[in-house]
Amino acid sequence: MSKNLAHWDKAKAESRKLALITAYDHGFAKLADEAGLDGILVGDSLGMMVAGAADTLKVTLEQMEYHTRLAAAGIAQALLMADLPFGSFEESPGVAFAAAARLIKAGADIVKLEGGAVMAETVGFLSRRGVPVCAHIGLTPQHVRQLGGFKRQGKTAAAAALLLEDALALAQAGARMVLMEAIPAALATEITARLEVPTIGIGAGTGTDAQILVLHDVLGLNASPPPFARAYMDGANLVRAALAAYAGEVRGPKDGAAVTGTA
Ligand code: KIV
Repeated sequence: MSKNLAHWDKAKAESRKLALITAYDHGFAKLADEAGLDGILVGDSLGMMVAGAADTLKVTLEQMEYHTRLAAAGIAQALLMADLPFGSFEESPGVAFAAAARLIKAGADIVKLEGGAVMAETVGFLSRRGVPVCAHIGLTPQHVRQLGGFKRQGKTAAAAALLLEDALALAQAGARMVLMEAIPAALATEITARLEVPTIGIGAGTGTDAQILVLHDVLGLNASPPPFARAYMDGANLVRAALAAYAGEVRGPKDGAAVTGTA
């Protein structure tokens, strides 16, 4: 059974938690799908995890389209979400629709865009034209310049009230999901209770309908993970050890007997 939007809505109605992960290529998307993940996000975090940049701002629509196509080729069941990158959607609803259509044609089931109530008009425009949208609020990495860094959001009562207003406005406009990043757990829990659509949390406690983490953080491949991330394996050291073992075998023992690749 496909883990489509109906699967997500049913899970929310039945209070069943859902798990997402990011993936940026065919191989890892296939592994995540086979592992039973409910959703896979081709996140613009690929600018940091794949391209090694300090933030996500340089990621282009062409890059998102390419990586969405790669991930889609590996997925049989999971919902595929793709990020609209910085600069590709903010100007007008029409511009956002053209960008979203490219990601949908590349294989995305739903697009994600960053921003609060100011994006409600765009969310409504896309929704009414057949593009499901996940709205991303709280710590929105595309606004890192304005936020002054990757900082937790919604810490004061006034900031929390604004985030609640954002979530309600976006859901009212037609957002099919709301993702909340790095906000207080109590606020994320309250927003989850107030919304009929599924919520996704990252660094927002356990009270959301779904959780998402970045693949490289989960696999222990990111040297500078955010404080809320959790590694489920020591990937960097495992990969280094495997590659060193391979190189050692190729170079062979001192007597020169190479042992790899012979029939
Ligand atoms: O780009 C991304 O990976 C994201 C997650 C951090 C939610 O937006």
